Amino acid sequence: MDRHSPDDFTAAWAKNVLGDVVVSAKEVHDRVHELGQEITKDYATNPPLLVCVLKGAVNFMADLMRSIELPVEIDFMAVSSYGAATKTSGVVRIVKDLDVDLLDRDVLIVEDVVDSGLTLNYLRQYLGARNPASLEVCALLLKEGEQRVAQSLKYVGFSIPSDFVVGYGLDVNQRYRNLDAIYTYVGDV
Ligand code: IMP
Ligand code: MG
Repeated sequence: MDRHSPDDFTAAWAKNVLGDVVVSAKEVHDRVHELGQEITKDYATNPPLLVCVLKGAVNFMADLMRSIELPVEIDFMAVSSYGAATKTSGVVRIVKDLDVDLLDRDVLIVEDVVDSGLTLNYLRQYLGARNPASLEVCALLLKEGEQRVAQSLKYVGFSIPSDFVVGYGLDVNQRYRNLDAIYTYVGDV
């Protein structure tokens, strides 16, 4: 995979807090399209309900659903596990719950990044208790070697080193979600 200097791609307004490009905008675009094609094939007979985990997965969800050639439905959940810090607290709080019933639905959780895995572990138990027909995960990023809870992820966009990253939905203190590429963050927290 290409590594670019942030100078090549970075908006001037964010340059002083960004380190290296971890995943370029083109790499994101191409991989999200591939994932959409895989999901189209795997769920051809049973279009899934896509559950976006706000806010970090919003960019990913918007692109992924448009790469799936099936009549999918979507819904949103918001959970909070980090507060304003860059390390997980291990405490997961449901900030916004789903509007739809999961009974007998094929549910695909769309998540931005799996770090410790605590958030996803909690979500799986929480949503699994509503008796969906199936419950799988599509994560854009998987942090290598960081999982404190074993995870089986049906779809993963990229495995990345454990550095804190921002862009394409990922934030620090709610900022930098609107960058098209994914960068390491080197500014103050
Ligand atoms: P986990 O519970 O430790 O797996 O953390 C998952 C959540 O923490 C993700 O859904 C993100 O919201 C947030 N998170 C973890 N790593 C990063 C990062 O590198 N940048 C921004 N947010 C992150
Ligand atoms: Mg998140």
